[in-house]
Amino acid sequence: MSAHDTKPTTKMTAPKLRALKGERGIVAITSYTMLSAQWADPVCDILLVGDSLGMVLYGMPNTLGVTLEMTIFHGKAVVGAAKSALVVLDMPFGTYEQSPQQAFENAAKAIAATGASAVKLEGGVVMVPTIEFLTQRGIPVLAHVGLTPQAVNQFGGFRQQGKTDEAAALIMNDAKAVEAAGAFAVVIEHVPEGLANEITKTLTIPTIGIGAGKGCDGQIAVMEDMIGLTEKSPPFAKRYAELGALAKQAISEYAMAVRDKG
Ligand code: KIV
Repeated sequence: MSAHDTKPTTKMTAPKLRALKGERGIVAITSYTMLSAQWADPVCDILLVGDSLGMVLYGMPNTLGVTLEMTIFHGKAVVGAAKSALVVLDMPFGTYEQSPQQAFENAAKAIAATGASAVKLEGGVVMVPTIEFLTQRGIPVLAHVGLTPQAVNQFGGFRQQGKTDEAAALIMNDAKAVEAAGAFAVVIEHVPEGLANEITKTLTIPTIGIGAGKGCDGQIAVMEDMIGLTEKSPPFAKRYAELGALAKQAISEYAMAVRDKG
């Protein structure tokens, strides 16, 4: 039996996703295009229009240059192809940190323009007023703690977070704070497995891990890393296929055939 046979076809919502904790593993993946959404939608619970699109599709050195317009543009393509998965828009750097009002204005604009059902924000305790403001006004929020890539300059690189007891306690506090503020789930990125497991046991909302071990309630992968389209991927990203190599091979066969008029 394949995953295609086991996933229900009804539309996923934020409350349904939240209720999956303890029931089965939650499957989340990034998607930025119509085609990738068509591939992933039948077997995934969440399609995240991640700001990783800046690095994966546009060759940016980090996610800081992604704009709300880019998110809306790609979000429309994903929503158009998603039949059952919950489509979540990643709020770009600079579009939500200033105030809860700024976050609401931009999140509402992006949701209205795309038809997506939720947004993701990076940050823990500091984002509590914003998460409360959005969730009390009808916008479901997926939180994101641990390695938050928009803070790359603060961290000095895409480094694992929460390695000392003190740093781990801060991330645990962040996770508890976003749950109390109303987030329906939380992404935990690149922290030690033991810490992710502790957070998963402590919270009543699902934890979605990336580079945080196998114990989270679900996992999220950057699709292009997972299927081997990117040249380099983070050390924790398991590659299930090497489609980049297959594409190069196919293109070179095509080029030879055309050149040789074969
Ligand atoms: O932008 C993104 O793709 C993300 C995931 C890696 C969680 O934030």
